[in-house]
Amino acid sequence: MAKQIRTIGVLTSGGDAPGMNAAIRAVVRTALGNGVKVRGIRRGYSGLLNEDIIDMTARDVSDTIQRGGTILQTARCLDMCTEEGQQKAAAICKKYEIDGLVVIGGDGSFKGARALSNLGVNTIGIPGTIDMDIACTEYTIGFDTAVNTAMEAIDKVRDTSTSHERCSVVEVMGRDAGYLALWCGIANGAEKILLPEEHDYNEEQIIQDITENRKRGKKHYIIINAEGVGDSANLARKIEEATGMETRATILGYMQRGGSPTAKDRVYASIMGAKAVQLLMEGKTNRVVGYKHGEYVDFDIDEALDMQKAIPAYQYDIAKGLSI
Ligand code: F6P
Repeated sequence: MAKQIRTIGVLTSGGDAPGMNAAIRAVVRTALGNGVKVRGIRRGYSGLLNEDIIDMTARDVSDTIQRGGTILQTARCLDMCTEEGQQKAAAICKKYEIDGLVVIGGDGSFKGARALSNLGVNTIGIPGTIDMDIACTEYTIGFDTAVNTAMEAIDKVRDTSTSHERCSVVEVMGRDAGYLALWCGIANGAEKILLPEEHDYNEEQIIQDITENRKRGKKHYIIINAEGVGDSANLARKIEEATGMETRATILGYMQRGGSPTAKDRVYASIMGAKAVQLLMEGKTNRVVGYKHGEYVDFDIDEALDMQKAIPAYQYDIAKGLSI
């Protein structure tokens, strides 16, 4: 028989993402609405290990759906990668009578959730990262807001690039994943998109393209460079030296992780938060919520972590074809 859940914990872990508050709110209110108590764990797994745990009421999540960041704060916690840390975390969950746990974060956070599930704490993961690099799902909390934030910023860079007939190298976030860069590249009509997954960074080719573009009458040249490729200032300097075209580098940085979530992030995060609680109430554990082929689904965490996700070659090719 499925274990009856009386108290659930909720935490956010890893990089924050707009929409996490909508997910927390949905977890808290779905649980309370079903007679389940909620404990908020502050500062991710670090907070769990330090017993930074608060009881949450429906009012604690009032006025949060529109706010960026995470009201529970977040952290990256190396101790949770050790067996000792995981045992301690499971013991603390038992001490606080947390029999179900919702973890909002990325793949690293799901590994911690899996460890806790193996130690008897029912856990459900919700994908939260602006990088969209979680293989089991087509949607991750925060990507939509981040890509819109970056797109608006790049539109502004484009205006001044055109006025001055300059080249602009704009660096967007994504240490290992190029989804933000690819989407901005298409949405902003960039001439070039550099992705960490592609390994096709070729300075000479870029310089040649810029020269040809100028001959074709283009007034600017926008390069969207993913953080994982990096070195934007150096690239800008080399382009200017080789082409004579004034070139500026702009690193958008952490502004991409903040801000009020879009409607999409609020709605999807709310549904995922509610679904995570429903799964716990059904006695499920070691699952991660996802969105695939137009539906909200859930996967075994082990299977989810084994899945691979690649940059869609079709979209990347289209982006290249549109930059002539
Ligand atoms: O949230 C994802 C991400 O933005 C990555 O693209 C980036 O490399 C990383 O977080 C950096 O985050 P932090 O500096 O907070 O560790």
